[in-house]
Amino acid sequence: MTVENAAALQRANEGPILGKGRMPQGSWRTRRRLRIVPWRGDPSCMLLGPARGGRRPTAADIRRAALELEKAGVRRLVTPAMNRFEAEAFYQAGFAHLEALHLLLCRLNRVDLSDLSVKADSIGLATGRRWHLDGMLDVDAKAFHGFWRFDHLALKEARTATPSQLTRFAYPVRRGLAQGVARRPVGYAVTGRAGNRGYLQRLAVDPDHQGQGLGTLLVHDAFRWLRRRGADTCLVNTQESNKRALALYEHLGFERQNEGLVVLRWDLAP
Ligand SMILES: CC(C)(COP(=O)(O)OP(=O)(O)OC[C@H]1O[C@@H](n2cnc3c(N)ncnc32)[C@H](O)[C@@H]1OP(=O)(O)O)[C@@H](O)C(=O)NCCC(=O)NCCS
Repeated sequence: MTVENAAALQRANEGPILGKGRMPQGSWRTRRRLRIVPWRGDPSCMLLGPARGGRRPTAADIRRAALELEKAGVRRLVTPAMNRFEAEAFYQAGFAHLEALHLLLCRLNRVDLSDLSVKADSIGLATGRRWHLDGMLDVDAKAFHGFWRFDHLALKEARTATPSQLTRFAYPVRRGLAQGVARRPVGYAVTGRAGNRGYLQRLAVDPDHQGQGLGTLLVHDAFRWLRRRGADTCLVNTQESNKRALALYEHLGFERQNEGLVVLRWDLAP
């Protein structure tokens, strides 16, 4: 199987790369325990993480999957953000530290929603539909450095990670134009909810529009949606080096949790 085929398989949602009959004995455990997704449109790099709602993978499961992917031509593996407990088996398998993340939690009943004044009054908010995704990805590409940028698959993953989700984008309001015509995203947020817990999955603002209150606007909008649906807390993670996002989140009532998260990498081939 070529790397391109592997990526195409995943894109078409036809199941894991490590399909039945391709793995040595015991591979069914790997299939149930691991999630494998092409990383940001780069077929030589794969995201390898614990399967959602699955059993915890062992170091042997992870090593087996890595070997199989290496044979398929994958050169580099990256994990999703994991707590130290989840990361243990990945370290044992051969992964190394890539990035440390802060995990922050906001208690939504403590947020003063009456004080949500919109600083940017020339900005509108709308629910992101299929035809807005390209515009939101353009914002993402401007806001994030290369390696961390979302592609369509990553955005889809973020939007389907929880049973319910809200995708919203901010756009400049241009008077005199027919509604809908001028809705070019300049910032967007993906928020998920599972039970009474909310997750701020992605937040990005076009650098040309940063520092004008759009980040605040989008997070407040997410809080409102979560509260309406009965969520009482919201979690977000951000790279320890992302001082700007940290300042924003703490400003909005998020508190750093003692236990942070890590993202790991494994360079299989130079
Ligand atoms: C983080 C990000 C979404 C903030 O968006 P924004 O529209 O600039 O945010 P706001 O204008 O609402 O700023 C809100 C608060 O954040 C903090 N903040 C904003 N810009 C800041 C800066 N340049 N330096 C320090 N703090 C800053 C301040 O506390 C500010 O409060 P204030 O208005 O009282 O000063 C934006 O910078 C971005 O897209 N960054 C790249 C992508 C990213 O890091 N996303 C989050 C990943 S988890």
